Amino acid sequence: MSTAITQRIQENYSTGALVERVKQGLEKAGSGSGPLRWSDLVPFDQFHVCGLEATKELANDLNLKSGQSVLDVGSGLGGPARYLAAVHEVNVTGIDLTPSFIEISNYLSERAGLTDKLIFTEGDATELPFPDDTFDVVWTQHVSMNIEDKARLYKGFHRVLRAGGRLAVFDAIQGSNGPVLYPTPWAREEAISFIVSEKGMTDALTEAGFKNLSVIDKTERGARWFRELRQQREQQQKAETAPDPLSALFILGPGMTPAIGNFARNVLEDRVHIVQIIAEKA
Ligand SMILES: C[S@@+](CC[C@H](N)C(=O)[O-])C[C@H]1O[C@@H](n2cnc3c(N)ncnc32)[C@H](O)[C@@H]1O
Repeated sequence: MSTAITQRIQENYSTGALVERVKQGLEKAGSGSGPLRWSDLVPFDQFHVCGLEATKELANDLNLKSGQSVLDVGSGLGGPARYLAAVHEVNVTGIDLTPSFIEISNYLSERAGLTDKLIFTEGDATELPFPDDTFDVVWTQHVSMNIEDKARLYKGFHRVLRAGGRLAVFDAIQGSNGPVLYPTPWAREEAISFIVSEKGMTDALTEAGFKNLSVIDKTERGARWFRELRQQREQQQKAETAPDPLSALFILGPGMTPAIGNFARNVLEDRVHIVQIIAEKA
C-alpha cells in the first residue's frame, strides 16, 4: 500500500489516548487495574458487526482444534484473538496496521493472562512478514474494506497457510441498494474505502487459489444487531444515562459515533451487506 494510504488508514483508527480511556473505563466498570477475564472486555473489544456472536459463530463453523496456529489479520484491539486463545485454546498471531491497537492488544492480553498464546505485531496485511506454509487458519474480520489490492491480499493469505489450511472471513461488502454513506467506522472518508460486491470478493478468493468456498449472508443478523444497539442507545438517552464506560462508543472516542450511526443506516438500508466466508487452501 502507498505510504499516504497507510497513514490515512492509521489516522482513521487512531482515536487518541486509547490506553488511558480503556484504563479509565475498566476502573469505572469495577475491573480495577489488575488481572481480568477476557470476557470483561467484550463490550468494546470486538470491533465488528454482531460483536462476540459473530466471532463465536465463525470459530464454531471452523471447528478449531486446540493447539492450531491462527493468523488474525487486522486484529484490532485483540478481542477476537483473546476469545480464540481462551476458549478454543489455539495460538494466535495478530497483525495490525494501527500502532495504538497493537499497544492496547498487548496490554489487555497481559491483564487477561493470555500472553503465552498470543503475539501481536504491527504490519500491513498486504506485506505479511511470515514464511510460506506457517498457519492452520488465516482469520480476518472487517478489514478488507480498507484494502484496494484484493488479489495481493488473498494471495498473501494463501501463501502463509499450510496445505489444507483454511481462511475465515467476516466482512462488509457492497449491498444492493445504492452507494455507501460515509463516514463509516472503517473509513471516515471514501478515499480509504475499497468495499466490493460478494462476487468481487469470491472471484478474488478463487483467483488467489482458494476452493470450496462456504458463503453465508449475515446481513439480516447484522440489521437485527444494529436495531438492538439503536434501541439501547435511545433508552439511555431518554433516561439521560451516560454511555457505559466500556462501550465501544466511549472507548473508541466521540469521532466513532456518527460513523457507527452510518454503518447502521448502510446495513438497514441494504447499502452494505455482511458476509461470512470459509474457504480452503487448494
Ligand atoms: C474495523 S477494525 C476490525 C478489527 C478486528 N478485526 C475486529 O473485528 O475486532 C479494522 C482493523 O483493520 C486494521 N487494518 C486496516 N488496514 C490494514 C492493513 N492494510 N493491514 C493490517 N491491518 C489493517 C485497522 O487498523 C483496524 O484495526
